[in-house]
Amino acid sequence: MTTELKKLFEPVQVGNMWLKNRVVYPPMVVNYSDPVGGVTPQLIEYYVETARAGMGLLTLEATMVMESQRVLSGAIGIHTTPMVPGLNAIVDAIRTEVPDPPKLSIQLIAVGRETEPEFTGTEIVGASDKPSILHPVMKGTCITRNLRDGAPRALSTEEVVELEDRFADAALRASMAGFDAVELHAAHGYMLAQFLSPFTNNREDEYGKDRTLLIHNIIDKIHARLGPDFPIIVRFSGDEYIPGAATLEDRRELAKKLQSWGVVGISVTGGIYESAPYIVAPSGLGVGVHIENASRIKEVVDIPVWGVGRIIDPRLAEKYLQEGKVDLVAMGRPFFADREILKKGMEGRYSEIRKCIGCNTCVLRIFGQKKCKCAINPAPGHHLGEVAFEESCRRPAEKVKKVLVIGGGPGGMEAARIAAQRGHHVTLWEKEGSLGGNVRAAAAVSFKENFTDFIDFHVNELKRLGVKTELNKEATEKDIVDFKPDVAIIATGAECILPDIPIEKPDMAKRASDVLLGKESVGENVVVVGGGLVGVDTAIFLAEAGKKVTIVTRRTSEFSPTTGLAPDTDGLTRIYILFMKMPGLDIKIVDKSHYHRVTSEGLVVLDADQKEKLIPGDTVVFALGFTPNNHLKEALMGKIPEVYTLGDSREPRKIFDAVHEGAGIGRQI
Ligand SMILES: Cc1cc2nc3c(=O)[nH]c(=O)nc-3n(C[C@H](O)[C@H](O)[C@H](O)COP(=O)(O)OP(=O)(O)OC[C@H]3O[C@@H](n4cnc5c(N)ncnc54)[C@H](O)[C@@H]3O)c2cc1C
Ligand SMILES: Cc1cc2nc3c(=O)[nH]c(=O)nc-3n(C[C@H](O)[C@H](O)[C@H](O)COP(=O)(O)O)c2cc1C
Ligand code: SF4
Repeated sequence: MTTELKKLFEPVQVGNMWLKNRVVYPPMVVNYSDPVGGVTPQLIEYYVETARAGMGLLTLEATMVMESQRVLSGAIGIHTTPMVPGLNAIVDAIRTEVPDPPKLSIQLIAVGRETEPEFTGTEIVGASDKPSILHPVMKGTCITRNLRDGAPRALSTEEVVELEDRFADAALRASMAGFDAVELHAAHGYMLAQFLSPFTNNREDEYGKDRTLLIHNIIDKIHARLGPDFPIIVRFSGDEYIPGAATLEDRRELAKKLQSWGVVGISVTGGIYESAPYIVAPSGLGVGVHIENASRIKEVVDIPVWGVGRIIDPRLAEKYLQEGKVDLVAMGRPFFADREILKKGMEGRYSEIRKCIGCNTCVLRIFGQKKCKCAINPAPGHHLGEVAFEESCRRPAEKVKKVLVIGGGPGGMEAARIAAQRGHHVTLWEKEGSLGGNVRAAAAVSFKENFTDFIDFHVNELKRLGVKTELNKEATEKDIVDFKPDVAIIATGAECILPDIPIEKPDMAKRASDVLLGKESVGENVVVVGGGLVGVDTAIFLAEAGKKVTIVTRRTSEFSPTTGLAPDTDGLTRIYILFMKMPGLDIKIVDKSHYHRVTSEGLVVLDADQKEKLIPGDTVVFALGFTPNNHLKEALMGKIPEVYTLGDSREPRKIFDAVHEGAGIGRQI
C-alpha cells in the first residue's frame, strides 16, 4: 500500500462507529427503485458494488419518511414498516458479500416544496407558503420541474409535530433494517432546510420563532426511541448562496447547536434549488467545492465534519485531511466514474483512475426520470447488471481478432480499450496528432478543461493494454482494406456544419470546432452563429480570449427548459454557464434571427419580421450542429468481415453515447 494516502486510510470514530477509513459515500438518488419506492435487485446490486469500492461509511440515498415527501419518481422510501425487509436486504447483501464492509447510514428526507404533485400524489407543502423558484437563474431548467403556479401550503403546527414523529419512525425502521446510523437531510432546500433557512421559513408559530426547533425535536425523538448513542448525522448546506438565505456564519452557529444535541457527525454540502449548481457542482466550480466551508464549520465543533464536491483524486482527499480542513471526505460521483478509485489510489496506480469530469450527465438523467448512469463509465446502472457487464468487458474473446478502430475520440478509445482488455489485437488510427476527438474541442473551454482527464485516462489505458495507436494517420478505404482487419470499427465522429449560404470572403467563415482546436484563428470582432451548447462554449472561449462576441440564435434567448441558450446541456451546467460564467464577458445576443449570408462586413441575418440586418464582425464562426462522418461505412461493407459504426459517426450526440456504444461493440466482438 502506498504511504501517500496515510491519513485517508486511517480508521476514524464517528459517534459509536469505528470507520475503517475517512472516506464517506454521500447519498445519491439513482432512480433504481420500484414504483412505490421499494428496493429492487438492481438497487441491491448497485449498493453492493458501491460498498466493494472500499469507503469507511456508505450513506444510502435520500429515502422518504412519508409517501407525500417523495423527491423523484424512482426514489426509495422508509415510510412504512413493509419497506423494512427491502432495505434490510441491501444491508444484509453488503454485510455478507463485501469483505470488511463499510458502516451503513441512510439519509432520511422530507422534500417540502422541492417536488412535484405527480411524484407525491398530493398537494405540495412546505415550511412556509413561499413559492419555489424565486431566483431568475432557476427559471425553467431541467431541475425546475417544480416550477409551479402558486405557492406550497405551509404545514400547520400539528402537521409539523407529525413530521417529527415520521422522522423518528423512519429512524426506528432504519435501525430495524440494520443501519448503523441515520443522516438527516437538512441540505439543498428540502423540508428540514426550509425550516432552518430565513429564506424559506417565515412562520409565526414556535417553528418560525426558533427555526432550529423542528430538527432539534426530531433529534430528541430519535434519541428517545433508539437511545442517546444511536448515531445521528446531519447534512446541511454550509452556505445557501442566495441573498437572505443561510450563510456560513449561520451554519457555524447551527453546527454548535447540533453538537450540543448529540449529533455525531456533520456533512457539509452547499446550495439550495435557487443556487442549484452548488448542489452537484459542474466541472467549472473546480474541485473540493465545499471543503473551505466545512473547514470553517470544523473550527467551532469537536465532532467529525466532512465536506464534499468534486474530490476527484484520492491525493486531493489526502491533502484536505493532512491540512486538517476536514476529518473525513465525501466522494460521490468519483465512485460512479470509477469503482476502483480507492483501490487504485491505495496501489499508487493514479494514472489508471477514470476521474469524474463533472459533466453532470448523471444528474440530468435522474431529473429526467431516467436511471442514473455515468457518461464515462458504462457499468453502473447497465441493464445487464453491473457485475455481468464488467465480466463481459473482461471475458476473453472466443476468437482473437485483428481489430482496427478508426478514430480516437471517446467512442473509438472506449471500443479499443474493451476489445484489447478481452485479448483482441487492436490497432487505432487517428488522423490528428493526438487522441480525444471533439472532447479536445470541449476541453479548450475554460470550464471544461478538466475533460482532458478523460483523454489522459484512455491514452494511458490504451498504452497499458498494448493497443497500437497510430496518430496522424487518416484512414482511407484502401488503407483499411489493405490492412485486412477482421473487424473495422468506424468511430470517425462528426463534422461541424458550414451552411450552404453565400459567403463573400471564404476565409471569414470558420467552423466552431476548428476554432476551439486552434486550427483556425479569428479576428477581434466575432459573430458566433448558433446558441446551442457548442455555440455558447465557443462564445465564452472567444470572449475569455478578449474578443468581442455576438451570438446569433434562431431561438429566443429567454430561459426555459427547451429554448434559450444551450438548452442541450444539463440544467446545472447550463445555469452555471449562463448566469455565473457569461455575465461580465463581452458577449451580445441577437435572438430570433436566421443566418442569411456572410459579407465582408459581417453576418446578414433575417430577423423575426424577415428583415435583413447586419451583425458586424470580422469573423463568422458556425456552431450549427454536426453532420456524421460516416462515408467509410458504405465503402467497407462486404470488404471487411465485420464493420461497426458508433458515436457521432452514427448520429451526432454526446460523450455518453459514444462511450456506451464503444463499450457495447468492444464487448460484442
Ligand atoms: C465544443 C464542444 C463541446 C462539447 N461539450 C460536450 C459536453 O459538455 N458533454 C458531452 O457529453 N459532449 C460534448 N460534446 C460532444 C462530444 O464531444 C462528442 O459527442 C463526442 O466527442 C463524440 O465522440 P466520438 O468518438 O463519436 O467522435 P469524435 O469525438 O468526433 O472523434 C472522432 C475522431 O475520429 C477522427 N477521425 C475522423 N476521420 C478519420 C479518419 N478517416 N481516419 C482516422 N481518424 C479519423 C477524428 O480526428 C476524431 O479524433 C462537445 C462537442 C464540442 C465540439
Ligand atoms: C445522481 C445524484 C444524486 C444525488 N442525490 C442526493 C441525495 O439523495 N441526497 C443528497 O443529500 N445529495 C445528493 N446528491 C449530491 C451528492 O451527495 C454530492 O453532494 C454531490 O454529488 C457532490 O459530490 P461529488 O462531487 O463527490 O459527487 C446527488 C448527486 C448526484 C450526482
Ligand atoms: S456522468 Fe459525468 S458527472 Fe456524473 S459521475 Fe459520470 S463523469 Fe461524473
